[in-house]
Amino acid sequence: MATYLVDLSPATMQRRLDEALSVYVDAMRYPRGTENQRASMWLEHSRRPGWKGVAAIDTAAPAGPDGTPDPDSGDLVGIAYGYCGAPDQWWQQQVVQGLRRVGVDQAHVNALMSSYFELTELHIHPRVQGRGLGEALARRLLAGRDETHVLLSTPEINGEANRAWRLYRRLGFTDVIRGYHFAGDPRAFAILGRSLPLDGAGLAR
Ligand SMILES: CC(C)(COP(=O)(O)OP(=O)(O)OC[C@H]1O[C@@H](n2cnc3c(N)ncnc32)[C@H](O)[C@@H]1OP(=O)(O)O)[C@@H](O)C(=O)NCCC(=O)NCCS
Repeated sequence: MATYLVDLSPATMQRRLDEALSVYVDAMRYPRGTENQRASMWLEHSRRPGWKGVAAIDTAAPAGPDGTPDPDSGDLVGIAYGYCGAPDQWWQQQVVQGLRRVGVDQAHVNALMSSYFELTELHIHPRVQGRGLGEALARRLLAGRDETHVLLSTPEINGEANRAWRLYRRLGFTDVIRGYHFAGDPRAFAILGRSLPLDGAGLAR
C-alpha cells in the first residue's frame, strides 16, 4: 500500500462522500452522526462554481500514466476542498459582518471579498496525521487557482497549539478576524488568509 494524492471530480466526491465525512468526523473528533447533518451541505458545496477537491488515498492499485491511481480506488484517508467565494454564500455574509464589526473599511472589505478561494475543509484521518499529508493536500488544493487570495476559518485554540494552526502559520496565513462567532455556533473562530500563489508574498493589509 502507498499513499497518493489525487484530484477529485465533483462526481467522485459525491461517490466517496460517506468516506470523506467519516474522515472529517474522526479528524475533528465529532460525535458519530455528525456526518448525517453535513452530507447535504458538502454535496451542495461540490456543485458551487470553482469547486476543487483533493484526497489522500491508501491504495495498492498501480498509478496511471499521470503518476496517480484511479481517484475512486483505495481507502480515503484525507480530504480537502474549497470553492470560489461569492456574495450569496452564508460564509461570506458572516465574514463581511465580522469585518464591519471590527471596523474594517468598506474598500478593504470589497478587496478581501472580490477574489478569494474559500478553503472550506481540510482533514487527515488521525491514524496518518503528522506525516506532512495535510500540508501536501493544502498545497495541491491551492495550486493553480485564479483567485488572488485564500481565506479559511478554524476554531480558536489556546496558544494556537494544534496541527491545523501550525500548518496554517507555516503556510504563511495571517489573521483577518480573531475570536469570531458565526451565527448559531458557540465556538470562537479565527478567519485567516494569505495571497495566492502560496510561494508569493502574504496577504495585503
Ligand atoms: C490539521 C491537519 C489537516 C494537518 O495535517 P497533518 O497531515 O496531520 O499535518 P501536516 O501536514 O501539517 O504535517 C505536520 C507534521 O508532519 C510532519 N511532517 C511534515 N512533513 C513530513 C514528511 N515529509 N514526512 C514525515 N513527517 C512529516 C511534521 O514534522 C509535523 O509534525 P508535528 O506537527 O508533530 O510537528 C490534520 O492534523 C487534521 O486533520 N487535524 C484535525 C482536523 C482539523 O483540525 N482540520 C482543520 C480544521 S480547520
